[in-house]
Amino acid sequence: MRYKSQTIAREYLVAALLLFLLQVVFGLLNITKYIWGYDPLLNIIPFNVSRAIHINLLVFWLLLALMGATYYMVADELKTEIYSAKLGRVQLGILLASGVAAIVGYLFQWNFGMPFLEQPTVVKLAIVVAALIFLANIGLTMFKNHHTLTRMTATLLGGMVMLAVMFLFGIPFMDNLSTQYYYWWWVIHLWVEGAWELIAASLVGWALIKVTGVSRQRIEGWVFAEVCLVLLTGVIGTGHHYYWIGTPRYWLWWGAIFSAAEPIPILMMLVDTVRHMLGARTLRTVNTLGLAWLGASAFVHFMGAGVWGFGQTLPQINRWTHGTQITASHGHFAFWGAYGMLAIALMYIILPELSGQSTEHGSKVGFTAFVSMNFSMIFMVMALLIAGIVQVYFQRVLGMEYLQTQGHMRLWYEVVLVAGSVFFVGTLLVLWDLLRLARTLPVGEPIPETEPEAIPGD
Ligand code: HEM
Ligand code: HEM
Ligand SMILES: [Fe+2]
Repeated sequence: MRYKSQTIAREYLVAALLLFLLQVVFGLLNITKYIWGYDPLLNIIPFNVSRAIHINLLVFWLLLALMGATYYMVADELKTEIYSAKLGRVQLGILLASGVAAIVGYLFQWNFGMPFLEQPTVVKLAIVVAALIFLANIGLTMFKNHHTLTRMTATLLGGMVMLAVMFLFGIPFMDNLSTQYYYWWWVIHLWVEGAWELIAASLVGWALIKVTGVSRQRIEGWVFAEVCLVLLTGVIGTGHHYYWIGTPRYWLWWGAIFSAAEPIPILMMLVDTVRHMLGARTLRTVNTLGLAWLGASAFVHFMGAGVWGFGQTLPQINRWTHGTQITASHGHFAFWGAYGMLAIALMYIILPELSGQSTEHGSKVGFTAFVSMNFSMIFMVMALLIAGIVQVYFQRVLGMEYLQTQGHMRLWYEVVLVAGSVFFVGTLLVLWDLLRLARTLPVGEPIPETEPEAIPGD
């Protein structure tokens, strides 16, 4: 850490970690409801409520992590203090208060209804206020002293502005359900396959320069090309959600063609990350765990979003798989790989730097967490996929009733419960490891310079 105001990143990241743990607890609760015939919590936290809390916490902790990392990264890139650390704390306070209000509200059926956007309108408006504070704070940090934006910070700002603007389309209540869902995808799809991709691309680029020492020119040119391609394919690719909701038929073509091309930039990002990591083999100092999470994230991003997404994006296939557990399998794989793993990678890079701790070789606990979480997630995703295939066959091909079909899927839900329990243990370990790294050690030693030198000939 070079700038005092960067410590607000720690508050965001620690809050994100705690909410992540809570998200996983609600995931386990969700799956037990699929398995057990009798639900003791039926009248307190029914399935729709525990599902809403699970996915809201997901979006919430990821946003906190990305915002925290943004504060840290912008100061680091532009070599300046954050415009106002105080505003950053006010923003965090508003977000946390909105989150608590939303979750408590769901328990009392105070719910807007659309998945991921269940927050009642007043809570959404409070989130808009927090988003405005955030944009103003990073915008002023960027422009106040006539800082020249790097391409990475410009992309990050673009992603954050897009994220905030798209959220507005999730606020109005519409009388027509098709129209409501038409715009719902402007938030959900254009977030994860648009705005968040820009944010992720710039943070990954920044993190790669930091931990591998690769030259800036090489990273920046690619990030820019990837980002343009993400937008080109992702924006019209929204059509892959417009096949069956009452929108015009041309979306079958537009959605199919453009979304089928979406894996290309994601593959480019994977190739790029691997290339830079291989090129950095001669490094003297490496943040092993940070690098491991970063590389693995690029791979799982490609598998979960690119391969799993592509597998169900053509209308000829989606017609059978739409809204089944195959979708849930993709949702878990993609969110985990693209954003969950990235958030953890960023924490491994930022938290030790903030507290001045060394991370060169990583801890045993950290590696155990890495292995257990990623393997158990693969088991979960595979089990959900098989459950989904069973569902498509019995329900869509044979025409069996929904609930009868669920009986045939139970074995695979049980696998999800077992794998999810291992994932939960991994979450506790990663939390332990990261909170340990977040602690500033009592000895008042000067902070060592951790940035590796550029690779010769790069
Ligand atoms: C990081 C990027 C991505 C994330 C986080 C993500 C996440 C999700 C989630 C959570 C859903 C379920 C939404 C719902 O109905 O509640 C979904 C649906 C879908 N995704 Fe993705 N996705 C990503 C990228 C992609 C890509 C690149 C493609 C195509 C190549 C794709 C294709 C689809 C399709 C076709 C559906 C609809 C499934 C259905 O009809 O039920 N996704 N995605
Ligand atoms: C112990 C671990 C977890 C378990 C047992 C679990 C279980 C579940 C269950 C049962 C659902 C409801 C699916 C349905 O509506 O039929 C769900 C939804 C969801 N979970 Fe998890 N989850 C876990 C962790 C995670 C993690 C770590 C992430 C992301 C990083 C995640 C992302 C999601 C998403 C995006 C959805 C909505 C999927 C959709 O709309 O199709 N979950 N989860
Ligand atoms: Fe999509």
